[in-house]
Amino acid sequence: MNRKKLLAVAAVSLTLISSTAVAEITFRNTITGEPLDMSVAKSGGNETVFQQFKETGKNPYNGDKEAIQKGHDLYLPACSGCHGHEAEGKLGPGLADDYWTYPSATKDQGLFEILFGGAKGMMGPQYVNLSTDEMLMIMSWIRDIYTGDPKKAKWLKK
Ligand code: HEC
Repeated sequence: MNRKKLLAVAAVSLTLISSTAVAEITFRNTITGEPLDMSVAKSGGNETVFQQFKETGKNPYNGDKEAIQKGHDLYLPACSGCHGHEAEGKLGPGLADDYWTYPSATKDQGLFEILFGGAKGMMGPQYVNLSTDEMLMIMSWIRDIYTGDPKKAKWLKK
């Protein structure tokens, strides 16, 4: 095979490979927009659930009673000191109402990006303490205690 043909074959096989692989979401830092380095993520928990989240951008734990309970147990030591026991707000903003500093938080992808990569000031990246599975559970609890306008709950939309 000559060089030209070889290149053509290579190009075709590359296209085939990339079209069969399932697309994954690129998570970005909420403040800088830079892609988040997912290689620093703490492993553990249900990797299948996180994989599903990476492909759909929807938290599979939303509405799952057991995950919501675990999420609450994790929220208390990890977040309540700054956000309040019922996420009513303290040093950090309330997380149960429909006012968001970062409107991206109305989607699960955006909420995850804030948790994993942090935001400004005291809101540091949470990957240091929590696995991605644990973050998804905390997120399911935050969605569960939502008191805001259901119309603004973008995570419920298809
Ligand atoms: C040391 C204090 C501190 C801890 C611990 C902390 N946060 Fe925060 N959080 C903040 C502050 C301060 C802000 C506001 C940052 C900003 O505006 O950029 C914030 C912002 C946020 C936001 C964005 C809210 C909005 O209105 O857009 C979310 C979501 C959030 N935190 C969730 C969490 C969760 C969940 C945890 C636990 C895993 C957590 N935080 C732990 C202090 C903290």
